[in-house]
Amino acid sequence: MELTEAMRTTAAIHRFRPDTVSDEVLYRALDAARFAPSGGNRQGWHVITVRDQALRTGLMELYLRSWRPMYEARLAAGGGPDAVGRRSPGTTEANYYAERMDEVPVHLVALIDRAALLTPFPAINQSTFAGGASVYPFVQNLLLAIRAEGLGASLTMLLANHEAEVRELLGYPEEFAFAAHLGVGWPARPRPARLRRRPVEDFATVDRFGGRPLRAGSGAPAESAQTLARVAEEAGGDPACWAGLVCPECGAVTSEGHRPGCTEAGTESGTAAR
Ligand SMILES: Cc1cc2nc3c(=O)[nH]c(=O)nc-3n(C[C@H](O)[C@H](O)[C@H](O)COP(=O)(O)O)c2cc1C
Repeated sequence: MELTEAMRTTAAIHRFRPDTVSDEVLYRALDAARFAPSGGNRQGWHVITVRDQALRTGLMELYLRSWRPMYEARLAAGGGPDAVGRRSPGTTEANYYAERMDEVPVHLVALIDRAALLTPFPAINQSTFAGGASVYPFVQNLLLAIRAEGLGASLTMLLANHEAEVRELLGYPEEFAFAAHLGVGWPARPRPARLRRRPVEDFATVDRFGGRPLRAGSGAPAESAQTLARVAEEAGGDPACWAGLVCPECGAVTSEGHRPGCTEAGTESGTAAR
């Protein structure tokens, strides 16, 4: 699969078919992910692949301890707009996932060896970002490799809130810290084709923080029509819906106003995007 397409379409997948994910497929994904960079090239990650039913149920129960109160609070607050200003349909999907985590065919628990994160610089060691920088490139590589295999995954962190219990359940030593949980399986629904993400002009500026927004020059490549057609086809939507304008009715991307397929491919799957 083409890299840019994988990057643009690796969405959180919340519904899975019950089909098994073979060790061969997992091995291939991990074999690609391991080329991630890490500080000092120390590669301190460790992945536990969990299929055992009692363990999957145990992980779900721990996850729900933090998820349920958070979800209820979000519902009570009426839900909030996401970073691109739209009500996220993802929250109810994330709840569907949380309540059925035990059915997700395979869970990957990514750990990091704390010793592999230490640098000679106290300021870097105290940064809340520096340690993560040596494990999340690997986790993102893994998400992309999983996508390239045709699988889907949900990346979550809430289990970090129950680390002592997760450690006891999976038997990992104190030297390792929980980094991420990925529920992995074959997607049960068409994959969201466009993700809700801020455009470049919103977060990149020239020369200074307050500088002018970075914009594409006249020679910069526009979004490939071929890529749009391919992802639209995969999502089961009308390619015309993905040609680049926001539908005023449902918020999906469309070339000429609201078209059949916008709602299904855009709203239901959470793909309304700029
Ligand atoms: C560091 C990190 C932690 C996350 N933790 C959770 C989590 O605990 N529960 C959850 O449902 N999603 C979690 N997510 C998933 C994000 O909510 C998701 O990536 C985002 O909503 C975009 O979703 P989309 O790809 O479907 O557009 C996490 C993502 C990241 C990067």
